Amino acid sequence: MSAPLIDSLIAAVEASPQDLPLRLHLAELLVTAGRGPEAVTHLAVALQQDPGHAGARELMARALAPPASAAPSPSPSPSPSGQEGMDWRAYEEEFAESVPPRFVRSDDEPDPVMGEEDRIVDVETSSVRLADVGGMADVKKRLEMAFLGPLRNEKLRSLYGKSLRGGLLLYGPPGCGKTFLARAVAGEMGAQFVTVSLVDVLNMWIGQSEQNLHQIFETARRNAPCVLFLDEVDALGHKRSQLQSSAMRTLGNQLLAEMDGMEGVNDGVFVLAATNAPWDVDPALRRPGRLDRTVLVVPPDTDARRAILEVHLRDRPIAGIDLKRLAGATERFSGADLAHLCETAAEYAMHDSLVSGQVRMIEQRDFETALREIQPSTGAWMTTARNVAMFANQDGSYNDLAKYLKKNKLM
Ligand SMILES: Nc1ncnc2c1ncn2[C@@H]1O[C@H](COP(=O)(O)OP(=O)(O)OP(=O)(O)O)[C@@H](O)[C@H]1O
Ligand SMILES: [Mg+2]
Repeated sequence: MSAPLIDSLIAAVEASPQDLPLRLHLAELLVTAGRGPEAVTHLAVALQQDPGHAGARELMARALAPPASAAPSPSPSPSPSGQEGMDWRAYEEEFAESVPPRFVRSDDEPDPVMGEEDRIVDVETSSVRLADVGGMADVKKRLEMAFLGPLRNEKLRSLYGKSLRGGLLLYGPPGCGKTFLARAVAGEMGAQFVTVSLVDVLNMWIGQSEQNLHQIFETARRNAPCVLFLDEVDALGHKRSQLQSSAMRTLGNQLLAEMDGMEGVNDGVFVLAATNAPWDVDPALRRPGRLDRTVLVVPPDTDARRAILEVHLRDRPIAGIDLKRLAGATERFSGADLAHLCETAAEYAMHDSLVSGQVRMIEQRDFETALREIQPSTGAWMTTARNVAMFANQDGSYNDLAKYLKKNKLM
């Protein structure tokens, strides 16, 4: 490969750093020319722009492969696992001698959390299981009692006259796993999972929305036993008295009608709903037979944080990360905050690699820097929740929230 062409391309990439195809072309030439370390730097930037880019990942695998003398085949080598993309674990084993271990070992390591990649919506079987959800013992117990136990045991169900229908409202601060948990329930039931978001329902045509909502419930009934998941239900079932638009008001009424259903039609349809603002949910929706149970989903505890961090580090080049220390230092972080932390640490490592021209792993010090700048995002929600628990809990429906806030000295 002629060096002048590469030099021109380097100049071109410098002039238009956002041009992904150009940068990938350059990286490919660099790899072919045996200039792996330079290619890695460009590929790191490319992957930052488009983390899922298959071509970039494959090139990265080639760029990181041992030099020609050690690797007999100069042709594009598939990743060691034979799958699309990078298999960091295989590389780790290969380079175990020269690269420090991913995590510093500290006592009992929990099993990694699996399943997030198969994220799905609409009517599909969910493969995430409750075991994939880190922590949340209380929430899981409630779900087991309300849905999963009765579903598994028909005899007991008839003995106690428990019907296989009903609803449960998950609430809590944003990014703490409500949607994730709902999908785990679907996976656990071996049932199907239908998601409703307000956007799905509020289609282009006003007046069509009720029909849409009806269709969604019909789909759920056809697929019974089935979990019908109403995400952000505060928007859909907003307190009717506060609703300005009459379109939204009729939609709320339609939701109530669908949830009541006629005798028998909703059998096998579990309505699971989630919201950040249960205080905005129409109280009519929370009456018996509708969303009559409420479960608080709080920020992940130490174990859950550890599990979530592991998920987000699974596909990243890391070395010597002290998970125990990170889990301990991220109190009140939501799942989403933890994801942000990992991204920021990766950015620091990458920036360092760019500046020094030396590619290196993401290390504990990157996390320490990231930790100094990232604050948990759950604070604002906790402030609102505190007011509700203090001044709007006459009927005791926020007792578990009050208990949580007191336990964590937030109230
Ligand atoms: N307990 C947990 N175990 C494993 N992963 C978790 C857990 N909690 C959160 N996560 C991770 O955080 C991500 C964000 O969670 P999710 O989207 O379920 O939050 P949410 O509560 O629905 O937020 P919002 O209220 O903003 O909709 C999940 O996709 C998941 O990867
Ligand atoms: Mg959600």
